[in-house]
Amino acid sequence: MKIKNICCIGAGYVGGPTMAVIAQKCPKINVTVVDINQKRIDAWNDEDVENIPIYEPGLSDVVKEARGRNLFFSTDVDSAIENADMIFISVNTPTKTYGIGKGMAADLKFIELCARQIARVSKNDKIVIEKSTLPVRTAAALKNILDNTGNGVKFQILSNPEFLAEGTAVQDLMNPDRVLIGGDIDTNKGKEAVEALVDIYATWIPKENILTTNVWSSELSKLTANAFLAQRVSSINAMSELCEKTGADVDEVARAVGKDSRIGSKFLKSSVGFGGSCFQKDILNLVYISKTFGLNEVADYWEQVIIMNDHQKRRFAEKIVKTLFNTVSGKKIAILGWAFKKDTNDTRESAAIYVTDYLLNEQAEIVVYDPKVNPEQIYADLDYLSYRSDEENRKAVTIVSSAEEACKDAHAVAVLTEWEEFNVLDWEKIYEDMLKPAFLFDGRRILDRRSKENIGFEFYAIGS
Ligand code: UDX
Ligand code: ADP
Repeated sequence: MKIKNICCIGAGYVGGPTMAVIAQKCPKINVTVVDINQKRIDAWNDEDVENIPIYEPGLSDVVKEARGRNLFFSTDVDSAIENADMIFISVNTPTKTYGIGKGMAADLKFIELCARQIARVSKNDKIVIEKSTLPVRTAAALKNILDNTGNGVKFQILSNPEFLAEGTAVQDLMNPDRVLIGGDIDTNKGKEAVEALVDIYATWIPKENILTTNVWSSELSKLTANAFLAQRVSSINAMSELCEKTGADVDEVARAVGKDSRIGSKFLKSSVGFGGSCFQKDILNLVYISKTFGLNEVADYWEQVIIMNDHQKRRFAEKIVKTLFNTVSGKKIAILGWAFKKDTNDTRESAAIYVTDYLLNEQAEIVVYDPKVNPEQIYADLDYLSYRSDEENRKAVTIVSSAEEACKDAHAVAVLTEWEEFNVLDWEKIYEDMLKPAFLFDGRRILDRRSKENIGFEFYAIGS
């Protein structure tokens, strides 16, 4: 089966970069990325390729090469579905905020809407691919809708979870550790569909790195991978608190432990807590599924990863208040970094949101600087919490365009994203411009303690 036209529903952090790379690597395949968000599509089509809505190192070059040639962005979802042989579903699957499974289960309403639209519009057989992270057995629900509401058209459903990490998306897509494709491998039609997708990836990825499984294994592998990764961060963060009490240094512990080849050195960087759209959502989902099957011990085991992460964010904020003589009321605190990690403008579940919220409850005045996140997003993140009115957030939080400006006249500075530029700031000048004693809290362990203490800062880094 030769694929000529691909449609991807959802032009977000997953759909956008993934389709850009497929289009770049497969110039003979037309790739149309559609979204109901007109503003987002306009930004993807912006003449100046630097204005695309997602910041990822290297992405604008890929888009520049393929856009208009065989990569298109559009809001005409129906036409793109109709013309496609293969449809990727890459829409958001947030945690449910209402009803059964509130706060835990994934909200599948966007997925279901896509399935119904595909069923309604399709006139010829298609391969439908789950790209968004989904609860195990979502494919069964998709199949049910597609098979029962369509006009006799045959659909093959594949699971092809995305493992890219934001900030390194292009690199991860160009050179992935593995690609995972789950399909109905017990039937000929299912095998053909899997092969069609394997052929696309095999254009640039060695075949031995393309794994094929049944659909359920593929769906569960994605949740498992994210749960294991998040668990490592929570494990090292648990140790960071112990390090602070015992005089050990968490980076030294991580280095010593990571040298064990069975453990490995990656993903052992202690921080103010993991963020991002996936880890918390996927673990909550795992907990929910486990509970649904009555596996309470399994559910509790994974829930602890989230409990530890919430604790880490809270204790960092508490540390700031306690260190500033138990009150931050009316004090100016500079927050450096709002994105959930460096090299992305994504702020979903960023620790900065929760630390800021805590400090606002303590009546601090907050000034934020982030090199890539725009001010509307920062206010939107705070407004979304619904703990304060929009006006209160704008009154208590100022957003500025440089780190120096944020730190001027501040009582304390908190580094919450590991942007490289924070390491090369003129910290002596920043110190001079701050109120004394000048407190510096490193939630990412990127700053050198000795040089900051020599300048005169009262320095705290998580985990030592
Ligand atoms: C993650 C998975 O890595 C990726 O495979 C999956 O497809 C989506 O979810 P992402 O959330 O984009 O990717 O970024 P990741 O690099 O995993 O970081 C997640 C969070 O953990 C960030 O807040 C990061 O700062 C934090 N983290 C990561 C640490 O605090 N310490 C570490 O050692 C690693
Ligand atoms: P992710 O990180 O999973 O890519 P995003 O929120 O960045 O998530 O992107 C998901 C995109 O899917 C959003 O731009 C949203 O507008 C889009 N979307 C959601 N539902 C639909 C739908 N039914 N049709 C088209 N696009 C949709």
